Amino acid sequence: MDCGYVLISILLCFSYYVTLVRSVDADNLQTNEKNDTHFKPLPFKFAKSQDGSNIISHYAMWHTQPGNFYGLRAEISIWGYPDINYSQESGASIQIYCQDGGHFNLIEAGFHVSPSLYHNRDVRFFTYWTNDSKLPGCYNFQCPGFVSASGALLVPGQAVAPPSSYGQYDHYVRLSLNKDPNSGDWVVYRHDLGTPQFLGYFPVKLCPTMPLIQALTGFVNYFNTTNGPPMGSGHFPDENDRKYAYFKHIKKYHSNGHPYDPIVATMVPFNDRRDCYKVTDFQPDIGKGYVFHYGGPGGCIG
Ligand SMILES: *[C@@H]1O[C@H](CO)[C@@H](O)[C@H](O)[C@H]1NC(C)=O
Ligand SMILES: *[C@@H]1O[C@H](CO)[C@@H](O)[C@H](O)[C@H]1NC(C)=O
Ligand SMILES: *[C@@H]1O[C@H](CO)[C@@H](O)[C@H](O)[C@H]1NC(C)=O
Ligand SMILES: *[C@@H]1O[C@H](CO)[C@@H](O)[C@H](O)[C@H]1NC(C)=O
Repeated sequence: MDCGYVLISILLCFSYYVTLVRSVDADNLQTNEKNDTHFKPLPFKFAKSQDGSNIISHYAMWHTQPGNFYGLRAEISIWGYPDINYSQESGASIQIYCQDGGHFNLIEAGFHVSPSLYHNRDVRFFTYWTNDSKLPGCYNFQCPGFVSASGALLVPGQAVAPPSSYGQYDHYVRLSLNKDPNSGDWVVYRHDLGTPQFLGYFPVKLCPTMPLIQALTGFVNYFNTTNGPPMGSGHFPDENDRKYAYFKHIKKYHSNGHPYDPIVATMVPFNDRRDCYKVTDFQPDIGKGYVFHYGGPGGCIG
């Protein structure tokens, strides 16, 4: 492939070769990890990037077991990573894994910092989908998938500012990803600006079936040639307010499109690298609704 002729082909080659892609083995989410006495870290499968180096992914997540679900909403804290390197990605998202035959489709919306995708360290709104969660998929508009609403206040790939500042102030976006009761499409709304703002949708064919697994997660992806980047605020989530990353006011959706409080007993944690990243209990808290905190400094090897 000739990667130097005109600008557009440079960009195409660039994203073809070096954009980090995650690979999630959703089968791992089907085991009940609540039984901590028998918890075994279940590593997600490594993806191979096109240049041959391995990509490592880690998660600090709460998810449902497979079932009939219709979406999630949460306030997602926004954090930046001024020191993140080119071969690292860090973010937080709402994920829906729908079982389709022997594999899981994944649709996802959230916020991340990904220098390999954008060539800078801005915090950006992103969407992602793949028709097999073990295979690389597409971010934003890399391939047809997410359909942006006309005049949307946030378009996939758009920067959001400012991020939270450790110990000083807190910035979040209230985001939902749920199944529209009429069309069956998976619609994305932003809710923290007065009236709910329609951002766009994943067509129903990208996630057509039940059962599915719903998840809220902090995540990192990085080449095996580097160390793990920070996740969340870059600090373990055992500190005071304004010092940790969170999902707050978490709601599930009914099939009629109305939100409701989740039942804690139906949620399962997944935390596959506890020495580097942690996730707190999922519980109701005064003024915060159903909430959990997550994150860590990174620096992990492998
Ligand atoms: C955890 O697993 C062990 C062994 O399988 C079992 O004896 C115990 O009852 C389980 N605990 C819970 C809370 O499910
Ligand atoms: C990274 O992965 C590649 C491909 O599997 C492997 O050849 C290489 O040894 C790995 N590098 C490190 C530092 O683990
Ligand atoms: C980025 O790379 C530099 C130089 O190798 C390293 O000192 C720094 O810790 C890395 N940043 C992160 C977030 O890992
Ligand atoms: C899903 O992946 C398979 C195998 O790579 C491909 O043939 C199919 O076209 C994909 N489906 C969609 C909707 O992209």
